[in-house]
Amino acid sequence: MVDSVNEVKEFVWRGRTGPFTLRMGPDVFAPSSTSTIVAEALEIHEGDVVIDAGCGSGVLAFVAARLGAERAVGCDISEESVRMASENARHLGLADVTEFRTGSLLDPVRDVQADVIIGDISGIPDPIAELTGWFPGGRGGGPTGAELPVAMIDEIGDILRPGGRMYLPTGTIQAESKVLGAARRVFGDNIEQLVSREFPLPNLVSRSKDVARLVSDGLISFRQRGSRLLWRLTIWRCTKN
Ligand SMILES: C[S@@+](CC[C@H](N)C(=O)[O-])C[C@H]1O[C@@H](n2cnc3c(N)ncnc32)[C@H](O)[C@@H]1O
Repeated sequence: MVDSVNEVKEFVWRGRTGPFTLRMGPDVFAPSSTSTIVAEALEIHEGDVVIDAGCGSGVLAFVAARLGAERAVGCDISEESVRMASENARHLGLADVTEFRTGSLLDPVRDVQADVIIGDISGIPDPIAELTGWFPGGRGGGPTGAELPVAMIDEIGDILRPGGRMYLPTGTIQAESKVLGAARRVFGDNIEQLVSREFPLPNLVSRSKDVARLVSDGLISFRQRGSRLLWRLTIWRCTKN
């Protein structure tokens, strides 16, 4: 276990249900614009059981708890994230409603029957993760950014109750059609686009040969606006029959 007690920083979440303060270690993903937009899109009903897959600091589990979830279980491959999320829960007075577990994808929550899955697992191509440092430890979502989200979707099985919803962020910065293909295999046509927003691509990403190859292979795509390239984030609600 990484002991980063001396490197703990505070992050003030100003998104939905905020402001509240999160303690972050160096291996913990700092909530991003995607976190803010996923939080805005979430629909939580009183009494919902929520899984926050790829929970990082626990931020989206805390938002769900503050919106009325009866229970929110977060999981992450990063031990430090799970440790900090549990600590954050205690600081926020949410330790009785939230719980955090270590492990890959949905493996740690196989015993949970959820009404909602927040599927915010790392999903950008490994070369972009390495270039940008957006993800602690350079952990991306696989060579095209689709591999991890697809594996997560394929694991859903009975974890999500009939009528349950998954909130899924996708982006043109990853092989989005592969992620949506996996979602359609599980949810059929019950997939609705809730929000879509464009973001500028950092110049060092636009200049990368690995990124140019992903574009020429038709796996990822950007829109040109003036001298900038933009990528598009979309949040989907996938409902189980
Ligand atoms: C985009 S971050 C989102 C974190 C958090 N939901 C937020 O909004 O701040 C993705 C998270 O997925 C985690 N992750 C990466 N690979 C994983 C895996 N195989 N299983 C579970 N979590 C994983 C990362 O450690 C990271 O915390």
